[in-house]
Amino acid sequence: MDHFLYRDGQLMAEDVPVAQIAAQVGTPFYVYSSATLLRHFALFDDALSGIDHLVCFAMKSNSNQAVLKLLGDAGAGMDVVSGGEYMRAKAAGVSGDKIVFSGVGKTADEMRLALEGGVRQFNVESEPEMEVLSAVATSMGVEAPITVRVNPDVDAKTHEKISTGKKGDKFGIPIERASEVYARAAALPGLKVVGIDVHIGSQLTQLEPFELAYNKVRELTKQLRAEGHEIIRLDLGGGLGIPYAQASNEAPPLPTDYGAMVKRVFDGLDVEIEIEPGRLISGNAGLMVSKVIYVKDGGDREFLIIDGAMNDLIRPAMYGAYHDIIPVIEPAAGTEQTPYDIVGPVCESGDTFTKGRHMALLKADDLIAFRSAGAYGAVMSSEYNSRPLIPEVLVQGDQFAVIRPRPTFDEMINRDTIPEWL
Ligand code: LLP
Repeated sequence: MDHFLYRDGQLMAEDVPVAQIAAQVGTPFYVYSSATLLRHFALFDDALSGIDHLVCFAMKSNSNQAVLKLLGDAGAGMDVVSGGEYMRAKAAGVSGDKIVFSGVGKTADEMRLALEGGVRQFNVESEPEMEVLSAVATSMGVEAPITVRVNPDVDAKTHEKISTGKKGDKFGIPIERASEVYARAAALPGLKVVGIDVHIGSQLTQLEPFELAYNKVRELTKQLRAEGHEIIRLDLGGGLGIPYAQASNEAPPLPTDYGAMVKRVFDGLDVEIEIEPGRLISGNAGLMVSKVIYVKDGGDREFLIIDGAMNDLIRPAMYGAYHDIIPVIEPAAGTEQTPYDIVGPVCESGDTFTKGRHMALLKADDLIAFRSAGAYGAVMSSEYNSRPLIPEVLVQGDQFAVIRPRPTFDEMINRDTIPEWL
């Protein structure tokens, strides 16, 4: 459920007409709903109530400072995967003891940054990484809290590009090697083992793969404790999927069901639980709004050429992802529908959002909105074709603010420098 609904024939972002934002900000743009972000965070927080837990927002899904501040102020921790994300979390006021540092390729500089600023734990993904972290922490005279990310060899049953917990994926260490790797961690100076980490993939639409993986982690917890390690914390990753198509019967499990399963699996283990949801918090909290430039007759099809493109929202081009696309002015009931190929202005055929999508008749200058664009939307955008990054807007009730302005052409161009000798 989100806060983008039609009222009196107008698509609203909470209590603000989307068309009003478009008139003020220009298109294309992203708009996020504070109420939806907070509601989704609260759903997870409540689902784990009664057990010691921390919900760490996977800020790779949406790392705008205003979004981070909103969630951080509500009590969220952050899951970061780079020095840049770490600095963004800190800049938004999140304290180091609520930041978990994930990622398969952390550099010594990134480790130093987090150890200086404070960090809840590093989720270590390999032995070489463990050795570097040991050296960095020792050189600073501190102890780095760590979990080791295990690969449980579970099929997440999701898109192959976002599945991460199968044998052969680049993530974590094979679970059967855990005993050996934890012994190595315990022997290295400057490291303090605090738990286990697992993340099997993104946009999971069933609970079973999670449960399979979590049962393995439960057994591993007992085994590692028996081997003398202090396992006080389990990071269970993110990955719970969202419904991208409202009209379909697709209904991924709810955070409440997920939370109940987590409580069931880890019942009696006396361990703190961390989770790292990204998409389920930010996905349905955002729209990308775009304007029709031309309706073009393509012979056997009609093209809707819009001012948003693959550089602004890459998910359809990259994963063949489906997004609901709706007109900003609500069509009257029973309005005739026609199939459109909806495409952007970028010079490649891959710049296609969808083919043969049935929509009410549209014409130049009409506004349309891509739903479920709050996660992996703005963060994955680029300036390909020298199209400046599009603005982001945050709505709260009847107020809205631009939380990242559209750069001018000059700002974009002047980031480049021409050497003197040219
Ligand atoms: N934790 C770790 C270690 C992760 O790698 C990820 C996502 C998450 C948490 C959050 O997963 P979520 O709850 O958002 O599913 N760009 C792709 C998704 C990539 C996900 C990468 N890792 C997309 O647009 O679908």
